[in-house]
Amino acid sequence: MRGQPALADNAPVSNLSLIIDCDPGVDDGVALLLAFASPRIELLGITTVAGNVSAALTARNARVIRQIAGRPDVPVFAGCARPMVRVPIEAGHFHGESGLGDLALPKVADEPGPHAVDFMVRTLMDRPPGTVDLAVTGPFTNLAMAMILEPAIIPRLRRVVVMGGARTEGGNITASAEYNIFADPHAAHVVFSSGAQVIVHGLDATHQVRATEARIAAIEAIGTGPAKACATLLRFSRHIEHKIVRGLDAPLHDPCPIAWLLKPELFDTVPCALMVETASPLTLGHTAVEFRLSEPSPIQWVTRADGQGVFDLITEALSR
Ligand code: RIB
Ligand code: CA
Repeated sequence: MRGQPALADNAPVSNLSLIIDCDPGVDDGVALLLAFASPRIELLGITTVAGNVSAALTARNARVIRQIAGRPDVPVFAGCARPMVRVPIEAGHFHGESGLGDLALPKVADEPGPHAVDFMVRTLMDRPPGTVDLAVTGPFTNLAMAMILEPAIIPRLRRVVVMGGARTEGGNITASAEYNIFADPHAAHVVFSSGAQVIVHGLDATHQVRATEARIAAIEAIGTGPAKACATLLRFSRHIEHKIVRGLDAPLHDPCPIAWLLKPELFDTVPCALMVETASPLTLGHTAVEFRLSEPSPIQWVTRADGQGVFDLITEALSR
């Protein structure tokens, strides 16, 4: 509007009130760095869950990334230390013993505070309905437990944007399952059957977003602490991709839900019905994604991701 003072670049123009629930995790770390560097996001809190590594380490790692990002204003709440039913399964082979690859870890203090599930419920019940988004980039245990503890949060959620599942891409932890769903299939069933609006970034989407050397070099060239940490995390994922998968450019999973919240035009979505296998030993955690709908569905499956666009978004955010 004419005569309006121009907003400074870093002016907090937040139209996204967001909780990120994660299991850092190398790619969760990149997702957090993107969110921390995005002034449009009002980050209400980070909740962490057992997944890639233990609950104690994922909470520690979220605080490490927060310190690197210089965002002591954002609280971190530790959450569930095991899945709802199945035995825990970690993914340390993909994320290193610390969970953050070979990143040098600054010392961070523990923070006693409410459990992640209690923070989720309290925030959603205190904030106006339909104003809080939730991004989930680890097993869905915390969110499922919050929905069971207080079902009234379900209609109060604005959108739930998750990284999980696979349709055309098969599995990455078993032949037919993606890790976040496989690690807690019962929690995934609770969330997908809750009636909440869920946008699902499965491997079909995240395998279109690859950490090439050129993309990593562009981030590293920014030269700041967060940018160098991001490049270190991405280089580690390339190393692991080559070592374990015999691949080259590692897929970048967890920043996709954050990128969708910031720039949805980088993605295409299709409404679907989504069921999770919770019993078969052979296909536990499989996501059956059905586009032939007999009735409307609140679940959207991401079919296309603009890989270069996602990396441009990360580079731009870290350049601020
Ligand atoms: O399958 C990829 C997912 O599993 C990512 O969230 C990664 O961090 C691991 O948790
Ligand atoms: Ca993760």
